Amino acid sequence: MSHIAYVNGRYLPQRLAQVHIEDRGYQFADGVYEVMCIWNGAPADYEAHIVRLNRSLNELRMASPASDGALKLIVQEIVRRNHVEKGTVYMQVNRGVAPRAHAFPGASVKPSLIVTAKHGAGPSDSVAEHGVKVISMADMRWERCDIKSVGLLPNTLAKQAAAEAKAFEAILYLPDGTVTEASASNAWMVTPDKVIVTHPTTNAILGGVTRARVLKIAKDAGYAVQERPFTLEEARKGKEVFLTGTTTFVMPVVEIDDKPIANGGPGTVALDLRQRYRTYMDSLTEAAWDA
Ligand code: PDD
Repeated sequence: MSHIAYVNGRYLPQRLAQVHIEDRGYQFADGVYEVMCIWNGAPADYEAHIVRLNRSLNELRMASPASDGALKLIVQEIVRRNHVEKGTVYMQVNRGVAPRAHAFPGASVKPSLIVTAKHGAGPSDSVAEHGVKVISMADMRWERCDIKSVGLLPNTLAKQAAAEAKAFEAILYLPDGTVTEASASNAWMVTPDKVIVTHPTTNAILGGVTRARVLKIAKDAGYAVQERPFTLEEARKGKEVFLTGTTTFVMPVVEIDDKPIANGGPGTVALDLRQRYRTYMDSLTEAAWDA
């Protein structure tokens, strides 16, 4: 079955969908994006993704390509036309098409909007039950990691390094040892006295939608939670380390740079949060489009 993509007002078979060679997303990575999970045909945290998309657009002084209402209809249509039960929707907004020049083009240049869908969501349960290995790497990104920009070269280099080391992810750290996040997910640890810790939402990390959902789930379940920086050293000596993200759900980390965390098995807190997150996902219905 061929995938259907939405490109600037048209629904097309993905192989025929094209963007202009002078699109600023292509030439300058002058674009922002969102990836949301579809579960039982319904979106996880739809509203939070749209709030973050609008924030990214605002921060870059980029116009919205569509009203929130029109965008929702497009996303719903892409989910419907691609028959997505469990999968992801990708949305990208670029500043538009103009002769190449670094400064912004005039206001007559309209932003481009692309929406696509994929089947398959999250890693398999057996991956999570065993936990994953990660590597650590210097965070060499810019100072606005809070913007979900398509400028992802440092993230792709980090993920490639992880893949070459047969690891699931690369955890990124600053020169002072602070762990910011991972290449495409947020990083967490559990202290020896069972406090859940994750980096606060500053410019140094992407404010993950899954991160916010898992924070709420953890607090509601009665866990002690702190949003504060932690170092790679503290994480190595922690009781648990785990990751969260739209394509990761909650993933226990069992080794950093080939050294085990605690006893080298997936942590009970991470597995419990993963289960609770799954319960949230399983509860999604049509009503989630308006949640
Ligand atoms: N990435 N941090 C980074 C750098 C990310 O790229 C992502 C998500 C996250 C987790 O955010 P969320 O929970 O909202 O998915 C954290 C997406 C999935 C991607 O680039 O494909």
